[in-house]
Amino acid sequence: MTILLTGASGAIGTMLRERLPALRATDVRPADGVAELDVTDAEAVREACRGIDAVVHLGGIADEGPFEDVLAVNVRGTERVLQAARETGVPRVVLASSNHAVGLHPYTEDLPDDAQPRPDSYYGWSKAAMESLGRLYHDRYGLHVVCLRIGSCKPRPEHPRDLASWLSPDDMARLVRASLTATGFHIVWGVSANTRRWWSRAGGDAIGYEPRDDAERWAGELGEPDPTDDLVGGPMTRRPLGG
Ligand SMILES: NC(=O)c1ccc[n+]([C@@H]2O[C@H](COP(=O)([O-])OP(=O)(O)OC[C@H]3O[C@@H](n4cnc5c(N)ncnc54)[C@H](O)[C@@H]3O)[C@@H](O)[C@H]2O)c1
Repeated sequence: MTILLTGASGAIGTMLRERLPALRATDVRPADGVAELDVTDAEAVREACRGIDAVVHLGGIADEGPFEDVLAVNVRGTERVLQAARETGVPRVVLASSNHAVGLHPYTEDLPDDAQPRPDSYYGWSKAAMESLGRLYHDRYGLHVVCLRIGSCKPRPEHPRDLASWLSPDDMARLVRASLTATGFHIVWGVSANTRRWWSRAGGDAIGYEPRDDAERWAGELGEPDPTDDLVGGPMTRRPLGG
């Protein structure tokens, strides 16, 4: 399988390049082993999709930002990727969504993978829009699309909230591998096998994702989460929109 990776110079892109070496790595910030590709450039994305079997689309703004910026990069960029995949016959696209697409849902045990969007920010709204574009391209053109509602992907948990939301780099790679063989349209939580995870396992089970890591081994040093912090999106839910 030849896989085009966008956003390859970023944190998760770097983790994936170390674990899935066959990726064709691109980013708007080129680096050693990473070719330049701006996902808002429709023609360049179309060229990059030629001869590809799947796109793993991570490239974009990964935090809250001005509405016009997240619209231009996250939403329009994703439309360019899906459009290019359709035009060049790429059958499969994996989209990096986020827990912030549903960040204003209250803490609920086993919150479904496809809980309806309740964005907590313009960023979260852009992720919900990306998922919705993925659904459109699946329904209209039959693309296989998996949207990953990623929790907190980092080398190790750093905050009490991460005890529930952590996605280890190795599990991220397992999740992408499973997504690359899935058929149909899926929304799947991107979270490890954390003892304290809030989120359903059903979506991961449906695509054969088997997480192995558990944030609990750091529980002693991280302390307990704030019990009043009871929304999925955590601190993002209290930040000003656009800032
Ligand atoms: N890290 C997490 O815990 C987490 C959680 C939820 C969702 N996500 C999503 O996963 C993806 C990767 O996140 P990350 O943590 O690696 O973020 P990151 O900011 O480290 O990486 C994002 C990359 O996208 C690139 N990029 C920005 N604009 C681009 C453009 N126009 N064209 C091509 N590339 C562009 C950046 O240069 C950067 O290298 C993002 O879409 C993010 O929203 C991450």
